[in-house]
Amino acid sequence: MRANIFLPFAPPPGRYLQQGLFPLAGRGVFPIARANASGRSNALSPLAPPPGLDPLASSWICVDLDAYRNNVRAILGRLTHGAALLAVVKADAYGHGAVPIARTVLRAGAQRLGVARIKEGVDLREAGIDAPIQLLGSCPPDHLPAGIEYDLTFAVSSSDEIRMLADRARAANQGLYRGRRTKVHLKIDTGMGRGGFAPDEVWPAAEQVLAEKTLDMEGAFTHFSSADETDPAPTLAQVALFRKLLRDLEERGVRFRVRHMANSAATAFYPESQLDLVRCGAILHGLRTWPAERDGLALKPTLSWHTRIVHLAKRPAGWTVGYSRLYRCERDSVLATLPVGYRDGYRRALTGKGEVLIRGLRLPVAGTISMDYLVVDVTPLMHAAGGLPEVGEVVTLIGGQGAARIGIEEMAVASDTIPYVVTTQLSADVKRFYQDGAAGLGQAVEPELRHVAPPRAVPLRPAKKPDEDSDSRRMAAGA
Ligand SMILES: Cc1ncc(COP(=O)(O)O)c(C=O)c1O
Repeated sequence: MRANIFLPFAPPPGRYLQQGLFPLAGRGVFPIARANASGRSNALSPLAPPPGLDPLASSWICVDLDAYRNNVRAILGRLTHGAALLAVVKADAYGHGAVPIARTVLRAGAQRLGVARIKEGVDLREAGIDAPIQLLGSCPPDHLPAGIEYDLTFAVSSSDEIRMLADRARAANQGLYRGRRTKVHLKIDTGMGRGGFAPDEVWPAAEQVLAEKTLDMEGAFTHFSSADETDPAPTLAQVALFRKLLRDLEERGVRFRVRHMANSAATAFYPESQLDLVRCGAILHGLRTWPAERDGLALKPTLSWHTRIVHLAKRPAGWTVGYSRLYRCERDSVLATLPVGYRDGYRRALTGKGEVLIRGLRLPVAGTISMDYLVVDVTPLMHAAGGLPEVGEVVTLIGGQGAARIGIEEMAVASDTIPYVVTTQLSADVKRFYQDGAAGLGQAVEPELRHVAPPRAVPLRPAKKPDEDSDSRRMAAGA
């Protein structure tokens, strides 16, 4: 029988042998060679399902919180101009799980969070997260009151948006909340064309916000269209325009406390774009849309995805696999069926291109990816030391086994998209397990809910004035 372990991080030397384990290329810990029922060695038998996995689950995702800490450190090491890090955790932290990732990166040194939708900000607050949460773009007007109530920081892109936000803030910042001002950042369109004030609208917008007593004009930002591309011209033009607009406003007496423009690529390649804040999503999550050698950042991959074989079949040469019979066995073959398909986020565009890891070996996905299944040609394992896999054996779809690794970037290129698409389309039905090296070996647990509370600029509930208590005591006494 195979040892049923889940030890994503290498234990201290000496414990390997006691536990019957040995490390492989620093990537994980695998059961030491044992004979299986058929007498064959199982030396490269990979990760087992994590404890706590629903026995009816078809696949599972592991998220490495130590890798996030590493990535935060790598980013902070790049901030040579005194900028702070805003961690972009929109879209469920690019598919990794917004709440645990937000907690981890705030503790690791990020100071703010970025989200696209008010619901995302509300969910983070409901989970007890107290750090500033920045909306990165426009929101439906009827969502604004919740954003104000939960003290989110708004991005405004038009005069109408400022007016609507001010109206809602006047209504909301009353009673207990009297004196509270809703924080606003002017979004400025310097070339992205997806929202923001045009350059000639910026001054009137600033005046409009400044005239609103319940709004606090904390910041201004812009967003790059092409910072990950090799031609620097569009990015440098955006940097120059944004800086000029800030200078113009300063000359008119408007100075923003928080100015920002850099996304991941700009943080990596354009130090001149690091103003008061950098807004990083991709590199925080260990993802790039450019070759890793270009940036010199020591990022670590944060996510792996695994499943188990549900069916094995020997088929003769000439047999075809899947819809439209796109794969034909060149020789007598062994085919393994996996219970994962495009419903889970394994992209159909990987048909004819996908690869998976079994026992540390890369094996090709055979034929069309279907909704619930994909097939792997495991014939090469017939001649490998461990022999053929068994039904129930773990297969890695993303991540490492031994020295081999299937990267998200590679999967993105193969399916003609970018890494963000791969991770955000991993189905929410696939449970995420959080590996925390610091929390001990063998742990695959969701981090505990803990309050993360950097100081607020404006308290949600203003502290009572000293005489308020005596006023209320007098009223209670009927005075
Ligand atoms: C306004 C804004 N800032 C920052 C980011 C983060 O970008 P990246 O993931 O490339 O760091 C995004 C992502 O789309 C964004 O919309």
